[in-house]
Amino acid sequence: MSSDFLVIGSGIAGLSFALRAAAHGSVTVLCKGKLLDSNTAWAQGGIAAVLPENLRTEGDSVDLHVADTLDAGAGLCNEEVVRTIVGEGAAAIDDLVGNGADFDRESADPARFALGKEGGHSKRRILHARDTTGREIATSLVEQARANPAIKLVEDHFAIDLITTGKLGMVTEDRVLGAYVLDRHSGEVRIFRSDRIVLATGGCGKVYLYTTNPDSATGDGVAMAWRAGARIANMEFIQFHPTCFYNPAAIGPEARSFLISEAVRGEGATLVNGRGEDFVARSDPRGALAPRDIVARAIDRELKRTGAACVYLDVTHKPKGFIRERFPYIHDKLASFGLDCEKEPIPVVPAAHYQCGGVVTDVDGKTSIRGLFAVGEVACTGLHGANRLASNSLLEGNVLARRALEAMLRRYAPEKDAPAAPEIPAWEHGDTTPPDELVVIYHNWDELRRLMWDYVSIVRTNNRLLRAGTRLRNLRGEVRDFYWGHRLTADILELRNLVAVASLIVDCAISRRESRGLHHTLDYPHGDEAFHHDTVLRRF
Ligand code: FAD
Ligand code: SIN
Repeated sequence: MSSDFLVIGSGIAGLSFALRAAAHGSVTVLCKGKLLDSNTAWAQGGIAAVLPENLRTEGDSVDLHVADTLDAGAGLCNEEVVRTIVGEGAAAIDDLVGNGADFDRESADPARFALGKEGGHSKRRILHARDTTGREIATSLVEQARANPAIKLVEDHFAIDLITTGKLGMVTEDRVLGAYVLDRHSGEVRIFRSDRIVLATGGCGKVYLYTTNPDSATGDGVAMAWRAGARIANMEFIQFHPTCFYNPAAIGPEARSFLISEAVRGEGATLVNGRGEDFVARSDPRGALAPRDIVARAIDRELKRTGAACVYLDVTHKPKGFIRERFPYIHDKLASFGLDCEKEPIPVVPAAHYQCGGVVTDVDGKTSIRGLFAVGEVACTGLHGANRLASNSLLEGNVLARRALEAMLRRYAPEKDAPAAPEIPAWEHGDTTPPDELVVIYHNWDELRRLMWDYVSIVRTNNRLLRAGTRLRNLRGEVRDFYWGHRLTADILELRNLVAVASLIVDCAISRRESRGLHHTLDYPHGDEAFHHDTVLRRF
């Protein structure tokens, strides 16, 4: 299987790229599950963008959006990158609307988009489709991709590893040649060839016991890029969303996976403790609408201080019908759990939400390996720094997709006299056997996610990080034996990637001996100029 462009991932990043690239050649889009199994499809609050002057909130500007992004990023954003991406917000909205996304409009003036507000934003600038913005974007992109004859959509195909000249032992400049991919139906491993590959595999929320992310978020792209020798950075900055529904009746991780959008706070919900006190205001005058790292830490502190199981998001003061109309998904889902949010406060707790670090790229998504681009949550472009500003990720996914294609066409145009592509060896199953002890995989999976939650969470210490490092070394060994000794399944591959990504998070966290943005450690509770830089890891 060979194509001009190989895209791994079918979220906003992968599909935005594919739809543009289709005008320049054949495109294969792989996804390990179904096309809509992505973080994109779950996004609620919306997409941040400063629209043309006649459509934006009075007083808003690209400069203000840049300033808010830099402020949230706690000194680690790359200002030039921020300016470039934020400056292309209006074009991103045009692209998504052009592909059929239907964002909410003002009822009084349908020519204007309705703009919401979220934590850290000084103005209303979030476009949304009620509280299911991601589903609106994802379904429209999938529909366009399905209708495009140049795009081949391949579901249930799990990318295992990138194939590079380096991995084949060639001494030429390291470049990508393709990927080994597991066909989940037949169990066969196939080779997908391309010398222009876009990693758009999303984040790694599943590395934590409690997360807002769907099952697909297992950090596969970061793990693959790491194994291929690409540079990885800032994995210590894992964003915890402050407000996930706390449902003691639900068992296991499901208990905390349902997000209550920050946009609910943007519309006036208050965040209070069991005594009705606005405890976040003690940490930041912006209270519940401070950037997420501050709010999540304030909740963590309050829960530890009071011994309570949760805090509360209160919308009972809003006019009747408002929440049902503006946030119908959240309203109905809470109702399905027996909670009428118009009458009683919503119990909430934080959960892992977004990976701010990832595969290091420039502002065009270009990685350190020739021909390999990373776009979307998998990438570390410099936009988010030490803490992402709400609703900047859908924006980044779309903007970087366009920039990546342009850079590829500029830099990696097919060369007429290029040497013949090297032979790629078929996957060797060797004498592996079907996995007989699945319990080992599930045990390790649970242990990993719990240990990351307990030891590498919102507030960290040296001791806990070192403990996590030791446990992860053991897990890595066990998973390696399992990987080499058994026929591959998606579960084995995901566990292997989760252990790799967890190790990168811990390595980055250990090396940052200060507190900044989302990385807060009791051993170094303040920022330190000596660490005013990205944490960059390279395997070889
Ligand atoms: P994803 O959308 O996650 O897509 C990843 C794709 O890669 C999937 O198709 C997956 O199947 C595929 N894949 C992964 N590994 C492999 C593999 N090994 N082989 C083949 N395919 C693979 N951001 C905002 O800006 N605004 C919001 O309102 C917002 N709300 C959110 C709400 C929730 C509940 C969550 C979880 C996230 C939210 N985010 C929001 C974050 C945002 O949704 C994501 O950062 C963004 O959608 C990521 O897009 P992506 O294209 O990079 O990856
Ligand atoms: C939310 O709706 O609260 C999520 C927004 C985001 O993660 O950007």
